[in-house]
Amino acid sequence: MSSTSLRTHSCGELTAKHAKKSVTLCGWVNTRRDHGGLIFFDLRDRYGLTQIVFHPETNKEIFALAETVRPEWVLQIEGTVEKRGKDAVNPKMFTGEIEVTATRLTILNKAKTPPFEIDSPKEVSEDLRLQYRYLDMRTARMQKNIALRSKVFQIIRSYFTSRDCLEIDTPCLIKGTPEGAREYIVPSRVYPGTFFVLPQSPQQLKQLCMVGGLDRYFQIARCFRDEDLRGDRQPEFLQLDFEMSFPKQEDVQEIIEGSIVEIIKACSEKKLKGGKVPRYTWQHVMDTYGSDKPDLRYDLPIVDVSALAKGCGFKVFEDALSLKNGVVRALRVPGGATLARSEIDTWTALVRELKAKGLAYILFKDDGPQSPLLKFFREGFLAELEKATGAKKGDALFFAADTFKIACASLSRIRSEAAKRFELIDESVHALFWVTNFPMFEEADDGSLTFCHHPFTSPNMEEWKHRKENPLAVHSICYDLVLDGYELGSGSIRIHDPVLQAEVFEMLGISPVDQERRFGHMLRAFEYGAPPHGGFAYGIDRVVMILAGEPNIREVTPFPKDQKAKDLMLGAPAAVPAEQLKELRIRMEEQE
Ligand code: AMO
Ligand code: AMP
Repeated sequence: MSSTSLRTHSCGELTAKHAKKSVTLCGWVNTRRDHGGLIFFDLRDRYGLTQIVFHPETNKEIFALAETVRPEWVLQIEGTVEKRGKDAVNPKMFTGEIEVTATRLTILNKAKTPPFEIDSPKEVSEDLRLQYRYLDMRTARMQKNIALRSKVFQIIRSYFTSRDCLEIDTPCLIKGTPEGAREYIVPSRVYPGTFFVLPQSPQQLKQLCMVGGLDRYFQIARCFRDEDLRGDRQPEFLQLDFEMSFPKQEDVQEIIEGSIVEIIKACSEKKLKGGKVPRYTWQHVMDTYGSDKPDLRYDLPIVDVSALAKGCGFKVFEDALSLKNGVVRALRVPGGATLARSEIDTWTALVRELKAKGLAYILFKDDGPQSPLLKFFREGFLAELEKATGAKKGDALFFAADTFKIACASLSRIRSEAAKRFELIDESVHALFWVTNFPMFEEADDGSLTFCHHPFTSPNMEEWKHRKENPLAVHSICYDLVLDGYELGSGSIRIHDPVLQAEVFEMLGISPVDQERRFGHMLRAFEYGAPPHGGFAYGIDRVVMILAGEPNIREVTPFPKDQKAKDLMLGAPAAVPAEQLKELRIRMEEQE
């Protein structure tokens, strides 16, 4: 129902069946053409475009007024729907069979010449688009993306509500919840020197809802993280946040997977690769693709050649094997033999950024294998490599000889570069899968233990018994969902036992005093009959970005921050009046 008091129809609904009808439309002037003594406008609103025509002989006054009108003026047009002549029909437009002959024109508002064209946005800088987001929103691209976002919200709400979940809102002024990023803080006026922390996610609150007996929770939750921005990250973003009581991991996976599959079906023309949502272990995806979120729209597996490389004669490989967690791994790139030296140099620079020492390679040219390494190889090693990797004429092999972590990072990077370079990505499908069995902890750069997911994640209890001897061998009951190479979301079965929770905090080096100060509320809640529970959260902006085929989440966020975490339209963050700071008892340090 698009009719309102000021209009009878939208600009996107009139067809031949409305011929001869008197209508009133409102909208923006998209384009104006003067042609054969007539004036034509395309009038635009969210629903589409309608051609308006002004005849000088019908009404001289209106025609003269129409001559003054410019793009982006807001008009109300009264007129009659006329079928277009055969030659004038535009099959690309829903309203292309008709035009409206104007009998009255009211200028509702004038507009300055916009800083960029709305109709055919050419190369416009993103800064300018963000500064004038309200104009950018008028473009077909943004209108489509924002409508898609709304559709995803609707599907989520009906999906989770129909599965007994309560939509429960949680506050934004809270105490810190660690998800691994820096926090945004809000000073309290009432208690000077103290701060609220904006949630990185509603993690603790949703767990407390389970302690509160609410059984199944969901929320489209706003989360805040002050971290280095990338294309798939914003300082504030939305999660579909979910938690349930008495589940096993599979119960959470089933309900979450169902929602994503439903969203994909409703919002994408692409099918799921193989019609399935496979489940892989973390070890498997790391070993095979070098990443915990590989893009599986193409295969390109990594092969471990550590066993072959022992005594292979090439010192770089042999040295790597003597490192703690040292490996030698190879990636076969079909067609890679044609790569130019300069391209290999570029790829080498990429892996050096990931702390790799280099990128050894062999090109399998028509006249035989070519590589600076061959002269070092012991007899038979090349043939063994060919057998292990399946390398053949026309291919290239790339090697990482390093710690497991660096080797994974570097070949994963080459894997995605190669897929782009040789167009190996199957753009006709979505690749959705689970990654399970993550390690519970990882080693931080300073050698201390840190959590892989968050500190409320339950460990595998069998392995937990041996945590003191080998904490890095403990896995957690944690699972990620990956779509087309993006981490969509993460979840876990949680700890509900206060003793176990305290043990985990202790392993993370959080002292009892700090445990009480930071998480006393959780430990206490768990003492009052916390049910076993688990949940998940996925990034809604990321889902929409992927389904819209956009390169970053700013394109699907109505009012995003730029890449330096600024709102260019509002000019935020900004200084506040000294009075306000005084009230909060905040004094600014001299800026350097
Ligand atoms: P996690 O920290 O993995 O898990 O976040 C879940 C998902 O949220 C999205 N996301 C982001 N999207 C845009 N910009 C960001 N800066 C950003 N950061 C995260 C990602 C990510 O996979 N509380 C846990 C979930 C749980 O255990 O239930 C959590 O927040 O798509
Ligand atoms: P170098 O011995 O440093 O001259 O390196 C010989 C070749 O091996 C070059 O192509 C390097 O890029 C590559 N290389 C060096 N170190 C490594 C490593 N750790 N892993 C993979 N390739 C490497």
